Amino acid sequence: MNERETWATRTGFILAAVGSAVGLGNIWRFPFVTGEGGGAAFLLIYLLFVALIGFPAILAEFVIGRKTKLNPVGALMELGGNGWKYVGGIFIVTGFVILSFYSVVAGWFARYFLEGFRGSYASLLAGYDGGAPAMFGAVSTGLDAFIFHTIFMALTIGVVALGIRRGIELAVKVMVPAIVLLLIGMAVWAFTLPDAGAGYDYYLSPEFGVIADNWTELLPAAAGQAFFTLSLGMGVMVTYASYLGEDRNLAKDGTAIIGFDTGIAFLTGLVVFPVFFAAGITEPGDGGPGAIFISMTEAFATISGGHIIGLLFFGTVTIAALSSAISLLEVVTAYVIDEKGVDRWKAALGMGGVIYLLGVPVTYDLIFLDLLDGFADGILLVFGALMLVLLVGWIAPKFAVAELEKGIGSLGSLGDAWIWAIRVPILLVLVVTLTLGILDYVDFLTGPFADWIGENS
Ligand code: PHE
Repeated sequence: MNERETWATRTGFILAAVGSAVGLGNIWRFPFVTGEGGGAAFLLIYLLFVALIGFPAILAEFVIGRKTKLNPVGALMELGGNGWKYVGGIFIVTGFVILSFYSVVAGWFARYFLEGFRGSYASLLAGYDGGAPAMFGAVSTGLDAFIFHTIFMALTIGVVALGIRRGIELAVKVMVPAIVLLLIGMAVWAFTLPDAGAGYDYYLSPEFGVIADNWTELLPAAAGQAFFTLSLGMGVMVTYASYLGEDRNLAKDGTAIIGFDTGIAFLTGLVVFPVFFAAGITEPGDGGPGAIFISMTEAFATISGGHIIGLLFFGTVTIAALSSAISLLEVVTAYVIDEKGVDRWKAALGMGGVIYLLGVPVTYDLIFLDLLDGFADGILLVFGALMLVLLVGWIAPKFAVAELEKGIGSLGSLGDAWIWAIRVPILLVLVVTLTLGILDYVDFLTGPFADWIGENS
């Protein structure tokens, strides 16, 4: 067997992990699910979830990967025994499902980026009767969506086929600072908008009554968002940590990754919600998957130089999406390479091709976005996280603490605290969340999806 590749630079791992985490989850998905969850109530639960469950869970993935130096399927089997290959199989399926719709959405960003070259966003919007929402409607499905999905997937396959070192590290070094700067600039500008206050109110001051009334929906939605945005629950972080050649302080790295990721999502909200209220849209949840496109084109159409900023924004998000898409395809590809002995090119092309086909229906009707996204985030990722936590907490806790201590030093009772947090409270929350997520998804299948089938057959 070939010697396993390791990261080219000391910072390579953290850059790649941040590159995976920061993506459409922060910039596209976060504002729209926050809108659907009623704003501040959702934000609060999401932040709690990230801190109390996301952090221990990312450490679990790291130790599994670094210890075994294997792809997630191999890693689970080594630690848990043969039966765990089925759980690993579910990770691979999750990668398929997420990347299929992810590529379509990334294609929208690429398309908005290119549109920017055709003129100012104001004149673009004028070309669509109904402004920003109408433009989103025209771009998000149909031939254009299909073409951009094709281009984006081809790019992703190309980078993964070239191997782990070359593609990822450089892109992330440029992209993360660019996104942070752009978002800060936009957030400062949004602050000056009339009615910005109503936007902040909506986004930042939770009503506890709303949380109490809606927790059965808020909990699975916030969990799905937390896992999705942190790339947790399907072995991405296992895979990336498996390329770690040296001892790093995994707790520190985990904190940095989560900090970046959450900060970027939070900033996105500070732009989107004031813009919405300034534009007279007081039900941000109605924007659905178009929320970020609608609010941003409205913004870029009004600010001077919005044209250039818009290009930069949509362009950098496309790159951010690419670094996340790469991580999704990397998991699937690494599995095929390690376990089936196929070479990298063939593995990336073959798996990427199937994923591409799975995404095509989304370009036809957005109901398929709900179908795939709901399944992946509401069920698969939560299930995956639950399994990882079970493995580390109950099946192999000794190795986990020992592995975490490498690069940190003795953890003493903190190590036990981590294991016990995973063993009982986190496990319970995940079981409840998964159950609620399954119920929600069944509601979707028997409600909106069944209606759609009825109307279209
Ligand atoms: N975390 C990525 C994002 O926020 C999406 C992702 C999910 C990537 C799961 C890998 C695994 O865009």
